[in-house]
Amino acid sequence: MMEDIKEVLLKEEDIRKRVKELGIQITNDYKNKNLVLVGVLKGCVMFMADLMKEIDLPCSMDFMAVSSYGNSASSSGVVRILKDLDHQIIGKDVLIVEDIIDTGITLKYLKEYLASRKPDSIKIICLMDKPEKRKADVYAEYIGFTSPNEFLVGYGLDYAEKYRNLPYIGILKEEIYK
Ligand code: IMP
Ligand code: MG
Repeated sequence: MMEDIKEVLLKEEDIRKRVKELGIQITNDYKNKNLVLVGVLKGCVMFMADLMKEIDLPCSMDFMAVSSYGNSASSSGVVRILKDLDHQIIGKDVLIVEDIIDTGITLKYLKEYLASRKPDSIKIICLMDKPEKRKADVYAEYIGFTSPNEFLVGYGLDYAEKYRNLPYIGILKEEIYK
């Protein structure tokens, strides 16, 4: 897989350090709340697992699966729900956990969808933010890193379901997806 990577953007230890900081911040912000982490499958998996271990509070986890891209490297703008939550979120403090915000279309839709179920609060944490590509009016309260306008893979991020298991985040060579 390494030969498909143009450049390593974030090493394992860079990610680990930042995730720890985010965990501390969330621990401080969610004292005496009913925190539920809602992961957006499948990109969130590595990040959510590591983040949750750094949160020193009682909290639960749930997942949604949505599809907006198919197998292409750019957003189609259409969001489809493939898997909904297992539990109710009424009265809970929801933190949506996402790998990357690109156009923002997925998260804007998801946030409004979940907000209609009357949680006490709803916020977003994303590991990577690609602000240059934003189309929808949505932002994350917690951001791991700002991303250059490149296609990233690794640590949960995929291209056509591949590269998720890379322990670092890399920039995919253009010839792979062009
Ligand atoms: P958005 O609706 O355009 O914000 O799309 C967000 C989703 O697209 C993310 O949850 C990712 O699954 C995927 N995505 C966006 N940019 C990248 C990238 O650089 N690498 C891998 N997946 C990406
Ligand atoms: Mg995703």
